[in-house]
Amino acid sequence: MVTPHNTQAIVLAAGKSSRFKTKKSKLLFNICGRSMIMYPVKALEALNIPTTIVLGHQAEAVRQEVTQHAQAGIQFALQVEQKGTGDAVACSRTTWNQENILILYGDTPLITPSLITELIEIHHTSKATISFCTTFVIDPAGYGRVLEKDGKIEIVEEKNCSPDQRQINRINTGVYIMKRAFLENNIDKIAKNQLTGEVYFVDLIKMACDQGLGVTVQPVAYDYVRGVNTLQDLWEVEQIKRSEFIKHWMSEGVRFELAQSIHIDINVKIGSGSFIGTGAHLIGDTVIGEDCFVGAFSIIENSKIGINTQIQPHTFIQDSSIGEEVQIGPFARVRGNSEIGNDVQIGNFVEIKATSIGDHSRTKHLSYLGDATIGKSVNIGAGTIICNYDGVKKNRTIIEDNAFIGSNNTLIAPVTIGKGSYTAGGSTINENVPAGSLAIGRSRQQLKEGYAEKIKAELVKKHSCACITEDIGKKNAQSTLDEALGFHGAIKTTNITDQI
Ligand code: UD1
Ligand code: MG
Repeated sequence: MVTPHNTQAIVLAAGKSSRFKTKKSKLLFNICGRSMIMYPVKALEALNIPTTIVLGHQAEAVRQEVTQHAQAGIQFALQVEQKGTGDAVACSRTTWNQENILILYGDTPLITPSLITELIEIHHTSKATISFCTTFVIDPAGYGRVLEKDGKIEIVEEKNCSPDQRQINRINTGVYIMKRAFLENNIDKIAKNQLTGEVYFVDLIKMACDQGLGVTVQPVAYDYVRGVNTLQDLWEVEQIKRSEFIKHWMSEGVRFELAQSIHIDINVKIGSGSFIGTGAHLIGDTVIGEDCFVGAFSIIENSKIGINTQIQPHTFIQDSSIGEEVQIGPFARVRGNSEIGNDVQIGNFVEIKATSIGDHSRTKHLSYLGDATIGKSVNIGAGTIICNYDGVKKNRTIIEDNAFIGSNNTLIAPVTIGKGSYTAGGSTINENVPAGSLAIGRSRQQLKEGYAEKIKAELVKKHSCACITEDIGKKNAQSTLDEALGFHGAIKTTNITDQI
């Protein structure tokens, strides 16, 4: 492989993340849909630089994360005990084979390929032994301070700083490149820090100066090299990353309502003319077509939305594909690899799971459609529930083109509703309905004309009281009526006409 000026990279990812105060390594935390460790790894990948990652704390989890998301060919080294950044670099020794070694820290996620390229170039043209990036920052707390006196440079870690040195705003960014020969000759000579007992990689800068070797300092913008040591740091870099993506999509013609409230991941794509409402979350590999509307507080995760689709507020779409000109929500949920065709309407409080719906179909209110194949121009009445689970396995329901499912239907899977057929409102359907049929699956209504007067007369007789209607109004109508008719216990007035 041809690498820029014979360069290979070492990324340090073995540290304990103690300042994060979380069980999980900070390098595994996500920033806009990508783990922290993958940011420097992807920047190096873009430059074709062979990379070794030093693992230690939660080594297996970090290794898995990298192998899952990086191109093949990454090498790993192990730092068994976390004895400092100098020791971590030393642990990667067996992988060193290029003329120049670039060292990055895994907790510097805003680094860019162009910053790395510029450092490699300046290192090459200046013929330095070590080149490294510095920056100025208003609050340098936590960073190593860069001291320069009589042409000699030294990095002093905060814990070792005198009160005066702490005031220095020029900091070490943790981005270095150096000659392999220098590294091989000096890495084992770094003395343990007297305060912490750790081996500080940064000490190599002073060692190079003391040996009269060339050290090049490359000033860079702070935002590209922010180190992430605490959850506050994570929050800050996440805001920078997120606003970078939002500004990009704005420049592509996307309107964000209250842009600062939007969550957007690195792999999200949005078509021009689309509107993204307040508090929307666009997560993972989501693609939103042109001229779409994503209402406030909707979440769209790993899903594809076709052009001109309108998603009303509080809708949650996961792992699904939605066609063009579709209306969804408010308060709808689509998940589990559902596939929704074009010009479909999915209304409020509708949940759709592992279901395909053909073009021009409607399910507008209060339904659950799970494990179903629904054809074109199907109407699903309000309150329809597909009973897909029998307690052991999920069963499929097929509703063919142009079928009409009445309101408040219960479809017990497996069941097929044939083309153009009707099911009556309030039906429980557990047998297949052939094409073109009407299925009625409900208890028949009985009608007893003139019975209202008869009931009232019975009540009056029972109580010998003319003001029974007033009583009913005052008390619980149901219990009064039961009492008056002498019904007790399980007998309910729903059956009143049968009892008289
Ligand atoms: C380090 C620098 C500091 C610089 C800052 C820039 C040292 C001694 N200090 O401080 O000068 O201003 O970065 O962000 O280098 N790691 C290991 N093994 C270890 C210790 C750390 O692999 O034994 C890894 C960590 O996982 C992390 C990186 O090295 O990715 C840096 O370690 P960290 O503890 O964050 O160093 P800082 O205190 O930030
Ligand atoms: Mg750090």
